[in-house]
Amino acid sequence: MDKQQLISEIQELKKQRDAVILAHNYVDGDLQDLADYTGDSLELAFRARDAHKGVIVCCGVSFMGETAKILSPESRVLLPVPSAGCPMADMVTAEEVRAMRKAHPGAVFICYVNSSAEVKSEVDICCTSANAAKIVASVEPGREIVFLPDGNLGRNVEHDLKRPIHSFSGYCPVHNQTTVAMIERARALHPGAKLFVHPECPREVVAAADEALSTGGMLRYVAASPEKQFIVGTEKGILHRLVKENPGKEFFPMDDCLVCADMKKLTLESVRDALRDLSGEVLLSKEIMDKARKPIAEMLERSKA
Ligand code: 13P
Ligand code: SF4
Repeated sequence: MDKQQLISEIQELKKQRDAVILAHNYVDGDLQDLADYTGDSLELAFRARDAHKGVIVCCGVSFMGETAKILSPESRVLLPVPSAGCPMADMVTAEEVRAMRKAHPGAVFICYVNSSAEVKSEVDICCTSANAAKIVASVEPGREIVFLPDGNLGRNVEHDLKRPIHSFSGYCPVHNQTTVAMIERARALHPGAKLFVHPECPREVVAAADEALSTGGMLRYVAASPEKQFIVGTEKGILHRLVKENPGKEFFPMDDCLVCADMKKLTLESVRDALRDLSGEVLLSKEIMDKARKPIAEMLERSKA
């Protein structure tokens, strides 16, 4: 079927199902164009909470669908490709969090939103890359902090806030492969271009970049910047919006290897099938949802302007 026909079919199903389509900044450009909202993890969480729709189609990885379901339990939340997960989210289990709680009694447990609902149900506050520093800074001075699962994000926040944090050992396989040598090569190819990376990159990479920003932060930064050339140190999918929303500006991927295989599993066909068959529904127990909602609600409260 040709692309336009497929898009028309999805639009028709969307009406029939009273659905909204949310997409992460890393998914294929066609899906970003199709979606009602495209954004970073925090923006998608707000959109899901405020959706009030029969169906929410979440074009992203599984933790994003779970977050949408937890915040919008009355809606059916569909993950077009349920096997699209986040390897970092799988690097910590609820059991490990319970063991860490015993080892650090009295600590505040902060959990990056890239984590399972079960893990969230064991922590105090969630955060995303857009608000991690703000959330950590909101913890009363002197309290011990345990940050999971992303060790790089934890260490980057620790450096920025000059506040000790016990960071877990998880990492994003896409961003963790970035190196200072990659930055040097990209700068040599595009001298003078502003270079930004994601805070999931290792500390020395963030230190060598001009900025470390969430994907939503990158889009806002470029829109407000008078600069004309940018080297993009995150998953390549974000180039779609950067190019589309910023005519006259040029963007260069920091390295061609920055591809999240899970985000790339999402296709127009998978969205059509999910809407047609109501497949890929996120199902979580009420108990887990109620427990996991607390740290997410705490994050949303603390990340208000
Ligand atoms: P953002 O919240 O910055 O969009 O990041 C999500 C993510 O998975 C980064 O790898
Ligand atoms: Fe997970 Fe990394 Fe993919 Fe983001 S880019 S979804 S952190 S594997």
